[in-house]
Amino acid sequence: MRLIIEPNYDSLSKWAANYVAAKINKAKPSAEKPFVLGLPTGSSPIGMYKHLIELYKKGIVSFEHIITFNMDEYVGLPQNHEQSYHTFMWETFFNHINIKKEHVNILDGTAPDLEKECAAYEEKIKKAGGIDLFLGGIGTDGHLAFNMPGSSLSSRTRVKTLTNETLLANSRFFDNDMNKVPKTAVTVGIGTVLDAKEVLIIVNGFAKANALQHVIEDSVSQMWPISALQLHPQSIIVADEAACAELKVATYNYFKDIEKNHLNPDNLL
Ligand code: GLP
Repeated sequence: MRLIIEPNYDSLSKWAANYVAAKINKAKPSAEKPFVLGLPTGSSPIGMYKHLIELYKKGIVSFEHIITFNMDEYVGLPQNHEQSYHTFMWETFFNHINIKKEHVNILDGTAPDLEKECAAYEEKIKKAGGIDLFLGGIGTDGHLAFNMPGSSLSSRTRVKTLTNETLLANSRFFDNDMNKVPKTAVTVGIGTVLDAKEVLIIVNGFAKANALQHVIEDSVSQMWPISALQLHPQSIIVADEAACAELKVATYNYFKDIEKNHLNPDNLL
């Protein structure tokens, strides 16, 4: 696993956006061979989306032949609800780039048969040729997408019950009222993410420092679902200094040292 440590949120976001754009450009996507991205919501990726929009506007990257699969969605929120992940994705990203509507895939949390919806999602990912690059953030308890602590590390897309910690964290988008946050969600599984050819996770801020410490320095554990990343052959965490607050000095120095000669993705564009 690579750990890239950037000074702050803005530089971390730029690093991630440049990395994504460089990967897309290198793959030279076409109608016959599109590039498939897995995408997250949450506040962590907002800066990356902003920079990707800038790169698109400058003509550096195109999303014409990109297929996307979002990680998760709340159960019961209609697509046009202001807090649905559908709304988030269109407002934050898709409305500002040249992606084709039919290339966007987001789980439907209002589907009458959620099990069927989840199984069909897995099938669709397979049909698209699998996910080339899965992007993500993490929760303070180390959850990935909506795979709460205790989630099976080989789980597939399914319905999950949200923990109180997550309901509390996400209540900031629901008038600070935990009772207004949907109690369940549909989410890709940890196994679904691990199947991607590459995974890039954004971790920023002090609130995530404890989770980052577990992922980097501890063993793989279902209680810190993001730690499953250790099993992936091509995973990168890009973190800011604040998120590294709980790492040992030796760990921090190790990753700083080993990454110092890696090409910055700026140079690949
Ligand atoms: C939600 C999402 C996750 C996200 C997490 C952290 O629970 N389902 O995908 O990683 O929140 O969100 P934030 O980036 O706002 O801290």
